[in-house]
Parts: sequence; structure tokens; C-alpha cells
Amino acid sequence: MDSGRDDGLASELANLPLETRYPPFTLRQYAGFWLPEVTLARGLPAARDRFAPRPDDVLLASFPKSGTTWLKALAFATVRRAAHPPSSHDHPLRRRSPHDCVPFLEISLALADDMDAAAADLDALPSPRVLATHLPFSLLPVPGRLAAAAGRIVYVCRDPKDALVSSWLFTRKASENVGVDAGSFSLREAVELFCAGRGLSCPQWRHVVEYWEASRNEHHRVLFLRYEQMLRDPVGSLRTMAEFMGCAFSPEEEERGVDRAIAELCSMEELKNVEANRKGRTGSGVKADAFFRKGVAGDWSNHMTPEMGKMVDEAVKHGLRGSGFSF
Ligand code: A3P
Repeated sequence: MDSGRDDGLASELANLPLETRYPPFTLRQYAGFWLPEVTLARGLPAARDRFAPRPDDVLLASFPKSGTTWLKALAFATVRRAAHPPSSHDHPLRRRSPHDCVPFLEISLALADDMDAAAADLDALPSPRVLATHLPFSLLPVPGRLAAAAGRIVYVCRDPKDALVSSWLFTRKASENVGVDAGSFSLREAVELFCAGRGLSCPQWRHVVEYWEASRNEHHRVLFLRYEQMLRDPVGSLRTMAEFMGCAFSPEEEERGVDRAIAELCSMEELKNVEANRKGRTGSGVKADAFFRKGVAGDWSNHMTPEMGKMVDEAVKHGLRGSGFSF
């Protein structure tokens, strides 16, 4: 298998610009994005070297805290509905976290004790595989090869202020799990880092625009969804997604309400009450309940001052200038 463009990335790491203010990760700037060191040292090289894309793969992509968990649940339940009807009492999503049903490509590799075993686990997933990533489009495992050989990408984008607040709250909660005290990481600091394009996976606007442009250039390969639209019309969004993934709901399934049952199964209310999501930990060790908070649009205003909101709006507007994209 080819080794990709990243030969030596791990050894270059120490020379890349460093950001230590974002707990619990140390971030490095690579190819214009601020990513955790562990992603750059292990996850990205392994994703490029050891991951063999398949034409029927479905890759769920997102900037962190934009609705990934929900997207994972919806895609998994839709693609696997023949084996696991949404009404079944022992549906995997009633027993396991969506994060354990759909692995993150680069994160599962980055955190693996045994890289060979982790790569073999990805290989062993039945086709069509559903995988997830927070990687920017330009850093996907050999984008040319992905575009030519691999399947479809579903991207979910969210209002940056809501993603930022969600991320800040998640960081405080999830950092406890890994023994890091993020209590002194203030929202103002998080806002300042975000606006400087120096938070986790930032610049957020660039992350979004890359996928948005890809969806315009290759609309049959990249579907661009908005979290707020999914909240307004979950069933309509799910139908769009199913059709795009090549497993549209038949008229007969729609008649029987299979699509509505999947939307219901994956709703915040349902997933939040699953024991594995209330009490368990995901495979990467994070308490699963940290992934389910409010799940609404506009909650940022309950946490940020209007001035912080304005700072984010200005930074995003500036970052998006000339792109043709707006939130
Ligand atoms: P909030 O913190 O604003 O509530 P990610 O999955 O990318 O980590 O994003 C997490 C955000 O998605 C959190 O937002 C979380 O509450 C919300 N979320 C999780 N499951 C959801 C669901 N089933 N429906 C809607 N939103 C959901």
C-alpha cells in the first residue's frame, strides 16, 4: 500500500507550531489546521498508510461538536436496517453508544494500543462500512484516492457559536475523564482561540468551506447537511441522507414508517436514555453522557455574552470572505 504524503510527519511534529492552551490536547498546526498531536503522530499517518478505502464506504465528517453522534446513529441505523430493524428491542443503538457502532477513522487508530489490530478491525467491518472523521477534507487519507476509489461523504455543519459552546462544555467534562483539569479554561479563552483559528480542528470556517466546496464540485460524493435543518426536519433530512448513501427508503418502507422509526430511535430523548449512553464510556474512554446535552439551536446565547457572540460572528465572517459560503 502506498505510504501517502506524510512520510516523516511524526518525526516533523516537534517542528510544527504549537498550541498548549486548549485542554486536554496539545495541538500542532499542520497544513493550516490545528490538530491534536496524537492525531498527527499516529492517527493521520496510520489512516493514510493502513486504511484501504472501499467504493461503498460511507464517511461521516464533521467539525467537532456539530452533530457527529446524531449523524452516526442515523447513518448506522439506516445502512444496517435490514439486519437491525429500528423497532427491534435489541437494536445495537439501544445497547451501545453510536460511537461504538461507528468508529472514528483517525481517532481509533491514534488511540490504539495495537495499531495492527485497530487497522484489522477497520478492515473487518462489513461492507458498506460506516466510518467517521473530524479530519478536514484536504487531509483525508489521500483525497485523490478517496475521490477516485472510495465512497460517499456526509458532512454535517453547525452554527459556529453553538459548536464552540458545545465544545467548551464538552472539553471541561471530558477532560476530567483523562485526568486533566480544564476548570480554569474559560469560555472567553475558548472564544479567543476559536476566533484566532487556533482551537481544536480550527479554523472552523475553513473546515466547513472545504467540505462545502467539495459538495458543490462532487455532489454525488459529498452531501453537505446543516444541523439546524436536521433539527427542523429530521425525517426529511434522513430521507435525503438515505438516498445519497444509496439506500433510499422505498415507498413501502415510508408507508410502514421505517424512516420515522429511525428518526425516533436516534432522537436526543431516546439516545439520552439508553443505559450505555447514560452510564457507559465510549471505546476512547470518554463518558458517553458527555455527548448528549441539549441538542438545540441557539443555546450559545445562554453561555456567551453578546460581545463574545459578536467576536465569533466577525471572525467567521472575515474567514469566509470570498468563499461564497455563509452560515
Ligand atoms: P449541545 O452540546 O449543543 O447540546 P458531536 O456529536 O459532534 O460531538 O456534537 C455534540 C452535540 O450534538 C451536542 O450539542 C449534543 O447534545 C448534540 N446531540 C447529540 N445527540 C443528538 C441527537 N440525537 N439529536 C440532536 N442533537 C444531538
